Amino acid sequence: MAILTPSRVDLRTLANVPVQRAASQVSWEISADGKGVYDHYMLKEIYEQPESVENTIRGRLNFKAGNAVLSGLNLTPREMAQINRIVVAACGSSFHAGLVGSYYFEDIAGIPASVEQAAEFRYRNPIIEPNTLVLPISQSGETADTLAAVREAVNKGAIVAALCNVVGSTIARESGRGIYLHAGPEISVASTKAFTCQVTVLLMLALLLGRNRRLNHEWGEILVKEIESIPGLLRQVLEQAPRIEQIAKATAHADDLFYIGRGCLYPAALEGALKLKEISYVHAEGYHAAELKHGPIALLEPSVPVVALCNSIPGKDKMLGNIQECCARRAPIIAIVSGDDDCCDKFTDSIIRVPDSSRFVAPITTVVALQIFAYYFARERGCEIDQPRNLAKSVTVE
Ligand code: AGP
Repeated sequence: MAILTPSRVDLRTLANVPVQRAASQVSWEISADGKGVYDHYMLKEIYEQPESVENTIRGRLNFKAGNAVLSGLNLTPREMAQINRIVVAACGSSFHAGLVGSYYFEDIAGIPASVEQAAEFRYRNPIIEPNTLVLPISQSGETADTLAAVREAVNKGAIVAALCNVVGSTIARESGRGIYLHAGPEISVASTKAFTCQVTVLLMLALLLGRNRRLNHEWGEILVKEIESIPGLLRQVLEQAPRIEQIAKATAHADDLFYIGRGCLYPAALEGALKLKEISYVHAEGYHAAELKHGPIALLEPSVPVVALCNSIPGKDKMLGNIQECCARRAPIIAIVSGDDDCCDKFTDSIIRVPDSSRFVAPITTVVALQIFAYYFARERGCEIDQPRNLAKSVTVE
């Protein structure tokens, strides 16, 4: 407990025992004009993403070495080289960011990675060895289930490194090491900029661990340039907002939607569906595109739009096949494609264009487009956006 009076701050435990804590300065400023020119914090935070990601990567890329610099990890090259498994523990959007990260760790760094729902972590008796790196991911740093996972991992002797946004939060403190997001304060209940910054940090971490192993200098340099390009690419996505708004408004009558993706875009589909559910109260399901035909395809019909993530990344040909399957059930398609790609023109007029990028960056640009879609969809339905019913910004109960 912190008891604040005009003259002092009194800290006590819940048993009313006085305690001392060192002060730490939080550099965030909630701007005096609150939402500024925006109608909602969510929209403001969507638009802040280029700058937030710039803050996330500032001082953390070494162009010459083709590497990332993440000093908060506090691991020597030898200690990093001994990591033989990565286990992410997180909830909600942070869990989805972790799923994207697991692709990075395996693809870029060659380290086996899994992602656990934090709520399950301690109940399924996870295999944690001394060389397992456990990564709790949490915007707030206070999510009860993620904190419980941290305590379990610390207790089992893992290397625990937290990815948190809130400086000095419980998860950051108890993990002992980690990487702050520097996304700035996120007020809207629906997470936006924290997600993109989490994924950016995971990409930098995969680069660092990769360079510590088999990833050569040339590939390191390529990845550094890709990471550096993210803020500019996000600005290009934001320029598409009027078109995305149009498509969202035209779709806002729907009461059920599917989001489908493959590879690193599968977690992006999950995140897009979560955004829509949270703020518009409309049923939306994220699926791996190949899973549709194993059941959910039975639900497709003309009143059920499918948001198909069809960026130009490996697996696109298969994705086009999946879109065809949806069209055969007369489900309207909303397609996300890269740049001027005309691959989906024959299936739909509802096309959202995100800038061409590698498969590693595609989830970041695509999710921003899906955030904008969810925002205007919910707005068209007259929903409360910043504080949706039944939801809290920080879930501190298990
Ligand atoms: C995201 O839009 C949600 N509000 C929610 O899923 C959130 O990501 C989850 O509760 C985890 O929160 P954390 O990142 O603060 O731990």
